[in-house]
Amino acid sequence: MNAKIIGTGWQLPAYEADNDYLSTLVETSDEWITERTGIRKRHLAKEETTTSLAAGAAKKALADAGLPAEEIDLLIVATITSDTVTPSTACRVQAELGAVHAVAFDINAACSGFLYAVHMADAFIKSGVYRKALLIGAETLSKLVDWTDRGTCVLFGDGAGAAVLAASDQGGIAAQSLGSNGSKWEVLSCMGRPNGNPVCREQREPGYLQMNGQEVFKFAVKTVPLCIEDALEKAGLSPDDIDHFLLHQANKRIIQSVAKRLKQPEEKFPMNIGQCANTSAASLPILLAQMKEQGRLHPGEKLVLSGFGAGLTWGACVMEW
Ligand code: COA
Repeated sequence: MNAKIIGTGWQLPAYEADNDYLSTLVETSDEWITERTGIRKRHLAKEETTTSLAAGAAKKALADAGLPAEEIDLLIVATITSDTVTPSTACRVQAELGAVHAVAFDINAACSGFLYAVHMADAFIKSGVYRKALLIGAETLSKLVDWTDRGTCVLFGDGAGAAVLAASDQGGIAAQSLGSNGSKWEVLSCMGRPNGNPVCREQREPGYLQMNGQEVFKFAVKTVPLCIEDALEKAGLSPDDIDHFLLHQANKRIIQSVAKRLKQPEEKFPMNIGQCANTSAASLPILLAQMKEQGRLHPGEKLVLSGFGAGLTWGACVMEW
C-alpha cells in the first residue's frame, strides 16, 4: 500500500500587501524585490491566525477528498508559528474540525515541514498504523518577521495549505529523500522567548527571524537538485519523466537555478511566489492545492515536491498523481 493524496485545500488571509506598501515601511522598491525574488505581493494576517488558516485549508481538503473529519486518524500540522506554545495547532484544528479519532500533533521543520509531515504519514500508512492522514502546512510568519529589516521582511507571507492522504494500491508516493544539518542552524533562525526565571533573568528582547540570505541561497541551489536526484533514483525515474516540479516558493531565482541544474524547462516548475511570497511550511501544499483547483494535475502524472529551510532541513518527494 502506498500513501496517496486524495484531496487538497488552501487558505490565504484576506489582506494583500504589495511591494509598494512595503516601500513605505523600509527602504526598498518594487523593482528590487521583483528582480531579486519574483515576489510582487504577499497576504498578511489581520483577523486570521495560524489556527484559523489551518482549519480553513483543512476543511477544503476534506471536502475535496469527500471525507468526513471523523475518518481521519492522523492529523499533523507543520508550523513554526503556532498561536499557542501548547497545545499544538493540530489539537486546536482537530477540535475545530471534529476530527475526534485523529492523533494530532505539530512538527517543526520550518519550510521543509510539509515534506517532513508527508514523510511521516507515508511511513505510518505504509506500515498500516494509520489509514487516513490530514497534513497541514500553516504559518503566520508575519509575527516572527522584523518589520524594520528590509533583508527579510519583504520575503515572507502568511497562509495555509492542506492535503488528505489515504492508503492506495495505485500510484501515490514512490520515493523520498530528506536531510537535516543542525550545524548550520544559525544561518536562518528565530530565538524563542527570553527565560525570565528567577535564577536566569535573561536580558534580551523576544527573537525575530534572522537570516544570512546569501548562505541560504547557496545552500538551496546546491542541495535541492541533489535531493531531487536522490529521490528520483530511488523511484527509478529521471528528471525527464517528471511532469511537474513543485518547489518551495522562496525565490524565483532559486527555482530557475534548480530547473537549469536538472536540465528541465522552466514551464515544468509552477510558481505562485509572485502572489504569496514565502509562506514557509504552507508554501508547497498551497501550490499543490491551487494547481489541483486549476485543473493542472491529471491522474497518472508524475510529480516532484521539494523544499528547504531553517535547521537546515531539506527534502524531496516523488509521487504519481
Ligand atoms: N530592498 C533593497 N535593497 C535591499 C533589500 C531590499 N529589500 N534587501 C537587501 N538589500 C540590499 C542589501 O543591503 C545590499 O546592499 P549593499 O550592496 O549596499 O550592501 C544589496 O541589496 C544586495 O544584498 P544581497 O544580500 O547581496 O542581495 P541578494 O542578491 O543576495 O538577495 C536575497 C538577497 C535575500 C533576496 C537572497 O539572498 C535570497 O533570496 N536568499 C535566500 C533567502 C531564502 O530563500 N530564505 C528562506 C529560506 S526558506
